[in-house]
Amino acid sequence: MKVGIFYGSTTGNTEQAAHKMAAYFPQAEVMSAADGSDLFADYDLLILGSSTWGLGDLQDDWDAAINKLRASQLSGKPVAVFGLGDQSGYPDTFVDAMGALSQAAQAAGAHLVGAWPAQDYDCLASAALDGDHFCGLALDEENQGNLSDERIKLWCTQIANEIA
Ligand SMILES: Cc1cc2nc3c(=O)[nH]c(=O)nc-3n(C[C@H](O)[C@H](O)[C@H](O)COP(=O)(O)O)c2cc1C
Repeated sequence: MKVGIFYGSTTGNTEQAAHKMAAYFPQAEVMSAADGSDLFADYDLLILGSSTWGLGDLQDDWDAAINKLRASQLSGKPVAVFGLGDQSGYPDTFVDAMGALSQAAQAAGAHLVGAWPAQDYDCLASAALDGDHFCGLALDEENQGNLSDERIKLWCTQIANEIA
């Protein structure tokens, strides 16, 4: 199975998480969304990540890539999303960009996997929230960085089980 992990990252947190995820998927390819935006349809499983900037905005590397994602042929393809954010600094827009990735992937026909429980986070609102779950893995290096490695491990195992 060809696994493509695409990230948008300004200070390196999302990029680092993407590389940690690759350890759980043999032969996964990791690249920035800006570099790989013509390749979304080439993979059997896509893992897409963005940090959130401004007030709820996608990271810059996704600016053009999000339209290419939306226009890709991803019918029935499993896609998982992850987001980096700061729940205490930005409690109203926590990991909003992950919600934008999920909407674009679903518009392209993708089958979203990897919903993640929101109970261990403290945010008021997020475009990535659907009831008591996020649409994908939320990571917070500012406030819960000590939990990230374990969260990544559990989430990658969850995805592998969901697509098995
Ligand atoms: C100016 C600024 C705006 C930010 N806006 C948000 C936001 O709206 N929501 C959020 O969850 N995090 C926000 N963050 C936190 C970043 O998403 C977080 O630091 C993230 O880990 C950065 O990841 P990166 O290094 O991969 O870009 C913001 C940070 C800064 C400095």
